[in-house]
Amino acid sequence: MKIVSKANNNLAREIANLISLEITPLEITRFGDGEERVRIEEKVLDEDVVIVADVSGKPNKFYMELFFTVDAAKRNGARTITLVIPYLSYQRQDHLFRDGEAVSLEVIAKTLKALDVDKIITLDLHSVRIPEIFRLQFSHLSAIPLFADRIKELKIKNFTLVSPDMGGIRRVKELSALLDNNTFAAVNKDRDLDTGEIKTAGSQGEFLENAVIFDDIIASGKTIKAAYDFLKGNNVNKVWVFATHPVFSQDAAEILESMDLEKVVVTNSIEVPKEKQFPRLEVISIANLISKEINK
Ligand code: R5P
Repeated sequence: MKIVSKANNNLAREIANLISLEITPLEITRFGDGEERVRIEEKVLDEDVVIVADVSGKPNKFYMELFFTVDAAKRNGARTITLVIPYLSYQRQDHLFRDGEAVSLEVIAKTLKALDVDKIITLDLHSVRIPEIFRLQFSHLSAIPLFADRIKELKIKNFTLVSPDMGGIRRVKELSALLDNNTFAAVNKDRDLDTGEIKTAGSQGEFLENAVIFDDIIASGKTIKAAYDFLKGNNVNKVWVFATHPVFSQDAAEILESMDLEKVVVTNSIEVPKEKQFPRLEVISIANLISKEINK
């Protein structure tokens, strides 16, 4: 087996360590016009190749690099190709929202199928129906058990598990089931698709003294901020935030820091760059979860 990734991918390094392998690095040459040439630096003939890719931050560029990496592996005789894409960029465009739009995720899925990828391993998808779009073997893992363990360790008392929107109810229910069926609720969020602005309009369920907001993605941070303001307006005392994917676009880190949160717990599905880290941020590793899946 070969674990292929960019040399600076820390999650890939952790995964490789757990499997007792070294990373097989990629050489990426950039031309003046922005085109890139991708080369796998070791032979992969007859190997099971696992490509670990972080496609967040610059999804257009990183998906192209991933497509080229798959092609390089295939062309050089890889026996099977598994992609570890912990955060599947474009997953929020998994269906048509408005007339005239493209379904971006379907384009990614068709391309990976055409490139002959055998399997995808990913984590906490926005919708459980996404695997149906990919007509190949698909492992949809979840960080929910890791978060349940961390909530127990933190000994948080008298709290409601809160989904910051109605679409996230399934996730908080799953988390609640691992926490002795802890009380859960959801805030009613409304995002303006043109401006990105978020408003809250009521909620479902009751709020206890404290709250743990749980979401799949923190991108702009506006969803968390709206839920936080709503909870504070409903006399909630302490608020923790748990979210699988720290996309942290624009000034999300500043928005998170501006709230009086106890902690913001995320996974390393996306590496948070130094300039976006802040004192109350905690990162839980998913390397073990993924290496077990690779070894299956
Ligand atoms: C949306 O339905 C997702 O579950 C997240 O709530 C959303 O992607 C977070 O985005 P943002 O941080 O930009 O509000």
